[in-house]
Amino acid sequence: MQYVSFPGHPLPVSRICLGTMMFGDKCDAALSEALVAKALELGINAFDTAAMYSAGASEQYLGRALRSVPRDQIFVATKVAKGIDRRSIIESIDESLGRLQMAYVDLYLIHWPVPGMNLTEMMGALNEAVVGGKTRLVGCCNFPAYLLASANAIAAANGWALLRCNQVAYNLIERGVEVEILPQARLEKLAITAYRPLAIGLLTGRLMPGMPMESAARGTTDSRVLTWLSQHGRSLERFVAYAHNKGIEPAQLAAAWVMENPAVTQPILGVSSLTQVESAVRVPEVQLTDAERQEVTDMFQTEVTEEGLQRFPGTKYNFPRLRRNLSLAVKE
Ligand SMILES: NC(=O)c1ccc[n+]([C@@H]2O[C@H](COP(=O)([O-])OP(=O)(O)OC[C@H]3O[C@@H](n4cnc5c(N)ncnc54)[C@H](OP(=O)(O)O)[C@@H]3O)[C@@H](O)[C@H]2O)c1
Repeated sequence: MQYVSFPGHPLPVSRICLGTMMFGDKCDAALSEALVAKALELGINAFDTAAMYSAGASEQYLGRALRSVPRDQIFVATKVAKGIDRRSIIESIDESLGRLQMAYVDLYLIHWPVPGMNLTEMMGALNEAVVGGKTRLVGCCNFPAYLLASANAIAAANGWALLRCNQVAYNLIERGVEVEILPQARLEKLAITAYRPLAIGLLTGRLMPGMPMESAARGTTDSRVLTWLSQHGRSLERFVAYAHNKGIEPAQLAAAWVMENPAVTQPILGVSSLTQVESAVRVPEVQLTDAERQEVTDMFQTEVTEEGLQRFPGTKYNFPRLRRNLSLAVKE
């Protein structure tokens, strides 16, 4: 396993974060414990959960599975369950710590933005959680770049803890974050933890065009997966064949593609079996050359182009490409 620094945290974290959304759902307590034990044995030290996963069971099972591991050797992230007003944030983290049976988490995340957010109240409450020793770091999930920047401007003006991480969906099919969020993370030295790196299992090759649906796979009941399958079926076939030709599992190729983006700290790999944990830990062994990376990227026609900044043939500047350049500006 490779390790990487997580902005603002002293523990080097594994390149792969274990996603525990299926704990309490597809995975009962015993299987959840076995998955965590295997992950620890193979070098994973970072775990992602949320209060809303299986109504708290994911936190409970994860906490139980980690109970005998020295606390300073693991990195645990969880997310706000309720609203983002002060009371909800403070109540929510206390309840999460109770379910996890931990004195603190390493990263506490706002799960998603809500209309009419009071950013000052939200950042003040997150700061309270840091000052109270309930979390080492705070962050957000699914925030557009401008919202994260506004929240951090408020925190900076008040001397409060800053959002240090944006947890976002990122995979070969969902690439919207390349436009603003990943470049912002590079400039501001924010962590990016990328969820859904396998597009809910679609990029593993288990669901292919014309193939009978595998009843055990989560994707069969997910409308997003069925839509992507109809939109990107031919691309998926090319991708899966390419991986097999290279002797790599498609799941590992898909996750390595996410991990190798220089703005990404860790892909969060969701698992529901021991084989999937074993597959996940080998992702960092997959090395793509620039040419291979481009080849894989080009298999899916998913590049996001912004309105109003189109590239005109023959003009000197290619603004869409310029804007997603990860080194457009630097800060010391
Ligand atoms: N912040 C947020 O808003 C947010 C949202 C969603 C998820 N997350 C986090 O991100 C994690 C990952 O998300 P995700 O589970 O939706 O996406 P994912 O990692 O793209 O997909 C995981 C699914 O892919 C299948 N899979 C995994 N490894 C495989 C392998 N080697 N071979 C074949 N199939 C494999 C499994 O499906 P089966 O179970 O069907 O076998 C697994 O449940 C979650 O656990 C959670 O911690 C965060």
